[in-house]
Amino acid sequence: MCRPTHYTIAYEINPWMRLSRQANQSRAARQWQALYDLLTTRLHARVQLLPPARGLPDLVFTANAGLVMGRTLIRSNFRHPERQGEEPVVERYFRRRGFRIARLPRAFNFEGEGDALWVGERLFLGFRFRSDATAHEQLARIVGREVLPLELADRRFYHLDTCFCPLDAASALWYPKAFDRYGRRVIDTYVREPLAVSTADARRFACNAVSVGRAVVIQAGISRRLKTQLARRGFTIYEVNLSEFLKAGGSAKCLVLRLRRAP
Ligand code: ARG
Repeated sequence: MCRPTHYTIAYEINPWMRLSRQANQSRAARQWQALYDLLTTRLHARVQLLPPARGLPDLVFTANAGLVMGRTLIRSNFRHPERQGEEPVVERYFRRRGFRIARLPRAFNFEGEGDALWVGERLFLGFRFRSDATAHEQLARIVGREVLPLELADRRFYHLDTCFCPLDAASALWYPKAFDRYGRRVIDTYVREPLAVSTADARRFACNAVSVGRAVVIQAGISRRLKTQLARRGFTIYEVNLSEFLKAGGSAKCLVLRLRRAP
């Protein structure tokens, strides 16, 4: 994770961002701290902190830093110049910690865990708005696993982690309307128990949840129906209000990068 010390809405690169709708910085700091405390204290997750950097307001969204495989970081190639300055900062941090850095050729955009999520031994790759479909072959070569490219169909759900959230080897939250027919088929085929969320829940970023074991850390304000469905499947829900980060188009999952794959 990365503290929101320099977090602001400094540009508009997704439909949620409006320069005229600024984030309240002290509220953002409190909300981020509450997420951090929940993950570390109550859920006993070990969290490493990437130092914030001036002029890189979206560095807080560490899910986009890259994809970690063992001791290798597959570093992101950001689509928008506004975020490309994060690349060397991330690379230096991981290199110093002994990670090997893998990079895709510059011509391929890839936004890390924002668009690349594991379901068992398969890597699902969201493409179109941020990552490129063509990156999937390169990725497959690096990870040595099957990579399933899924086209994203609605620009409000521009990263895969805004509309798809694997919770364990069998279940995942998803918003079907964010995918095309082929994508819906793939998810229906490879995810044993997909749990579709309503449009209202999807817009509240319900799919941008962090799963820690059987705990699901999710944006506050999701429907009672979804909470009941999750509880029925044996998940415990922890609601977090990340309203200041929604203004940049992100919630809990965007603020976290997994350093180790869930067992
Ligand atoms: N403002 C950031 C962007 O548009 C938000 C990134 C959200 N991250 C994510 N993993 N969905 O790039």
